[in-house]
Amino acid sequence: MTLQKTTQAKLKALFTEAEASKAFLASKKDPKKTITDVIQAMVKELDAEIFELKNQEGKAASSALGFAVVFYKDSQLLIGPIYIAKAYQGQGFSKVLLEQIVQLAKSKNLVSIYTKTWGANKASRHLFTSYGFTQTKEVLDDRADGDSTVSYIYQLRSD
Ligand SMILES: CC(C)(COP(=O)(O)OP(=O)(O)OC[C@H]1O[C@@H](n2cnc3c(N)ncnc32)[C@H](O)[C@@H]1OP(=O)(O)O)[C@@H](O)C(=O)NCCC(=O)NCCS
Repeated sequence: MTLQKTTQAKLKALFTEAEASKAFLASKKDPKKTITDVIQAMVKELDAEIFELKNQEGKAASSALGFAVVFYKDSQLLIGPIYIAKAYQGQGFSKVLLEQIVQLAKSKNLVSIYTKTWGANKASRHLFTSYGFTQTKEVLDDRADGDSTVSYIYQLRSD
């Protein structure tokens, strides 16, 4: 498995699938914003990078199993949206994706990894806690009425 830098255009099929399956919860502030809009803004405003998870190096974009959007602030790597293609969900690939992100952060000598998800997202909440992330905050009714935004941190170094 490899993590390779890519663009939203190259991963169009995966983004289309994610949108069609309503994989991401719409923002309460702007319900019309799609995940494509959100990631476009992250790339523009936060210099976010898009990575695809691939089986083998050098294969075509269609062989991507999923994607992760990451950006950096101070000595921290921030994980934005992550997605594993429907056909590959439930087979442990999100853990591989996280492991690759951890290696990326370590290679940059960063201190920690930070991420957020929504309260009702059992799959991602389970993923982060079982991987060793610690929940730091839960903001109630932030994402939708009755749903929250939950923050997680993964410490790489103690300083
Ligand atoms: C969240 C997501 C990335 C998980 O990817 P995945 O490859 O299917 O997950 P894995 O197979 O690696 O499973 C990881 C762990 O989560 C658990 N899990 C997976 N799907 C689950 C679900 N629907 N409900 C509860 N637990 C779930 C697995 O059992 C596994 O647990 P374990 O550590 O005890 O073995 C994937 O479901 C997805 O892309 N969802 C849509 C987008 C999304 O929600 N992204 C995250 C928020 S940005």
